Amino acid sequence: MAQANQGDLEIVPSQFLGFLKDLHSKYKSVQEGAVANYIPELAKVNPDLFSICVVTVDGQLYEVGDYEQLFTIQSMSKVFAYGLALEDRGRDYILTRVGVEPTGDAFNAIILDEQSKRPHNPMVNAGAIATTSLIKGSGATERLNRMLDMFRRYIGHDVFVDISVFTSERSTGHRNRAMAHLMFNFGMIDQNIEEALDLYFQQCAVMVNCRDLAVMAATLANRGTNPITDEQAVDRHYIKDILSVMYTCGMYNFAGEWAYKVGIPAKSGVSGGIFAVVPHQMGIAVFSPLLDARGNSVRGVKVCEELSQHLALHLFECSANNSCFSNIQGSSK
Ligand code: DON
Repeated sequence: MAQANQGDLEIVPSQFLGFLKDLHSKYKSVQEGAVANYIPELAKVNPDLFSICVVTVDGQLYEVGDYEQLFTIQSMSKVFAYGLALEDRGRDYILTRVGVEPTGDAFNAIILDEQSKRPHNPMVNAGAIATTSLIKGSGATERLNRMLDMFRRYIGHDVFVDISVFTSERSTGHRNRAMAHLMFNFGMIDQNIEEALDLYFQQCAVMVNCRDLAVMAATLANRGTNPITDEQAVDRHYIKDILSVMYTCGMYNFAGEWAYKVGIPAKSGVSGGIFAVVPHQMGIAVFSPLLDARGNSVRGVKVCEELSQHLALHLFECSANNSCFSNIQGSSK
């Protein structure tokens, strides 16, 4: 394993790729966890798939393993849908419909804030459904197209919805349906409930690979501008809103321990992806479908813990100018 001392990283690009390869072979043998099966189509995934990608804000790509393997984005989509809803409705209005408090509950808990009746935050399912229902468009097709175009800006190429996963979740997603009805009852969703759910299920079934996720993460790290295409994916004024809820809520009922140990905003999904954002430096993505009891990728958590420790990425550990990774910036692969 390539060694690096915290805060004193002497890494060159070729060594960094070697470091990622070492991490990949170290954790490839980990077989703990289980693939998600509550959406029947997700249970068909090969549990051995495993990839790690890093994209820096100056556009360098580092990729190891099955980084071109496509999978559905699932809950990781919630981050980007939140950005689009903020752009469409503004911060003040969104806050009247979706809170920013971590719950300590599972991602699919059927629970709203006692006082306000808002879902707790946009990273749990209830909050994500409410957020998605606020995306503008003159009908279901326009809303879906605006959502897909938003993903295109972050990734740098067109994306598509996996129809099998979408219909699999649509026909089994009764917990989400229950939450949507509860929120409709309290006036937190005001459009057609089934249409809001369909758009939510469709956004979760958008296909990405590990490299795409790392580019999306790097776009958030780069103040909303895709570092490969130079296209603005989201208004930079909302980056702090997005990263704040990722930091406090992105890993569900593991969010506190993640913030303590890894210390960078991140989001996981039940397909096995985790992406993490190191502001002004890089995006990290890991894909491995074996999940722990909270729905986070087992290898993904381990890889991010080790990357954070070795590169001294914890937000409260880096030097004030966040320069701990700057020695690979500006160099070629
Ligand atoms: O709503 C659901 O249950 C899925 N479409 C997404 C859940 C998810 O990815 C939770 N993540 N860990």
